[in-house]
Amino acid sequence: MGKRQVPDELMFLVNRRAEQKTTDAPMTGKVCIVSGSTSGVGLAAVRRLARGGAHIVMLCRNYEKAEGVRRELKAQYAVPVDIVVVDFSNLESVRTAAGTLLAACPRIDVLINSVGLHSTGRFITQAGFELVFCVNHLGPFLLTYLLLDRMRQSAPARIIQVNSEGHRFGGLDLDDLDWRRRRYKGLKGYGASKIAQLLTVWEFADRLQGSGVTINAMHPGDVRTNIGNNNGPLYRWWLHNVTWHMLKDPVISGEALYYLAAAPELAEVSGRFFHLTIDEKPAVHALDREMGRRVWNLSLQMTGLGPGS
Ligand SMILES: NC(=O)c1ccc[n+]([C@@H]2O[C@H](COP(=O)([O-])OP(=O)(O)OC[C@H]3O[C@@H](n4cnc5c(N)ncnc54)[C@H](OP(=O)(O)O)[C@@H]3O)[C@@H](O)[C@H]2O)c1
Repeated sequence: MGKRQVPDELMFLVNRRAEQKTTDAPMTGKVCIVSGSTSGVGLAAVRRLARGGAHIVMLCRNYEKAEGVRRELKAQYAVPVDIVVVDFSNLESVRTAAGTLLAACPRIDVLINSVGLHSTGRFITQAGFELVFCVNHLGPFLLTYLLLDRMRQSAPARIIQVNSEGHRFGGLDLDDLDWRRRRYKGLKGYGASKIAQLLTVWEFADRLQGSGVTINAMHPGDVRTNIGNNNGPLYRWWLHNVTWHMLKDPVISGEALYYLAAAPELAEVSGRFFHLTIDEKPAVHALDREMGRRVWNLSLQMTGLGPGS
């Protein structure tokens, strides 16, 4: 009797236990911009990229914290480490940061968006967006869009959106993106932001075809980071005393992001979702291209880029 086939929707359970791919391909001098690099997945990524010789550009909201990471990296590796301050809950701040990056970086080889949060409560930003949707999707979308031409000029170049298996939670309702009509649920709000991001990855990939710039999304593993720390003392206690024991060291996320950024065999791979380093089929609702076109247009409008193309 043959082995029973695991359904696509459950392959993440297989992939999380699978042996992951690695590469020793050097990244010497490659300009790698990493958002959310003061903590967790993004921090693990800049550590690994610095070890690979990359020129690190940290995009962070807390300058002091970023300065601490810069000191740590500089003490171990002879690589340039720059810091640009940005608040992804404020799209004006994202625009300013993109301007700073364009002025400072004549070339951009890799963009990794690892910024993100999970909130159990519903918060609305000053501009009127639901906070998680803004930080996890709109901010990184705007930044990516604004850096595209520079990345095209720098080709070959790679964009990696740190997404999540949490996209499987569902939650995206294009008629209620700010959760005025529905009761907000943290996991659904998180899911909505990650579905929107995935749908726009396929759209970006189409537009980048033939440019030498690739874009992929990935799940960084189930790892011990500070995500959720913003949800109050009880949540934090649970996170650190219970959940963390079931999670892995984010060093695996850094290794996976390095692989996706550097592996020669991925030079032309674009528009895919990876569980760490394994190509995986996302949930069906994240593959709905008609929905994707609507999310693309809405994202352009909401970030002030619209109508665009
Ligand atoms: N941990 C997991 O198991 C897991 C699983 C699936 C997906 N992910 C994804 O991995 C990514 C990184 O999360 P993480 O687990 O590494 O969490 P984390 O340790 O909390 O790191 C999040 C990073 O985002 C930054 N950030 C948050 N809000 C920001 C804002 N408004 N403006 C600028 N920076 C902001 C944080 O800055 P501060 O250091 O200043 O707080 C931090 O550097 C997220 O996209 C998350 O959805 C994580």
